[in-house]
Amino acid sequence: MKPQIINFKLLGDERGSLIAIEAEKSVPFPVSRVYYIFGTKAGVERGFHAHKALSQVAVVVTGSCEMVLDDGEHQTTVLMDSSEKGVLIEPKVWHYMKNFSSDCVLLVLADQHYDEADYLRDYDAFLDFKNGGSK
Ligand code: TYD
Repeated sequence: MKPQIINFKLLGDERGSLIAIEAEKSVPFPVSRVYYIFGTKAGVERGFHAHKALSQVAVVVTGSCEMVLDDGEHQTTVLMDSSEKGVLIEPKVWHYMKNFSSDCVLLVLADQHYDEADYLRDYDAFLDFKNGGSK
């Protein structure tokens, strides 16, 4: 599968850099929730789920990590090492993150509030949901 990368506009001047992310403009949905993952311990991999309906965009504010995306048929790994590039995580895409640098701050914008019922945390249940099952 081909990752969908969003290029954010870098607003820089002699003082430094600034990036603005606007709902429904820079990201293709209204933003209901923002969270960030940081202080990730060496060797930790996290995520390992898909969402039934949630759309998200992830961007590393600082540091780097890798995002593995899996649509049930193909996997792709995106090296996230630029605060100018967001990765779109669409519904029904299994994903996990690995190889976090110790300084990594991974910012995520989501179009819905947190809802555990939207999670598919079991890979076979994800495949079943994706293929029209009812689990
Ligand atoms: P979890 O889904 O395990 O994180 P990851 O996707 O990185 O593996 O989330 C960790 C905990 O935080 C879990 O108890 C759910 C909770 N949580 C919220 O309460 N709100 C949120 O927006 C998120 C993303 C997680």
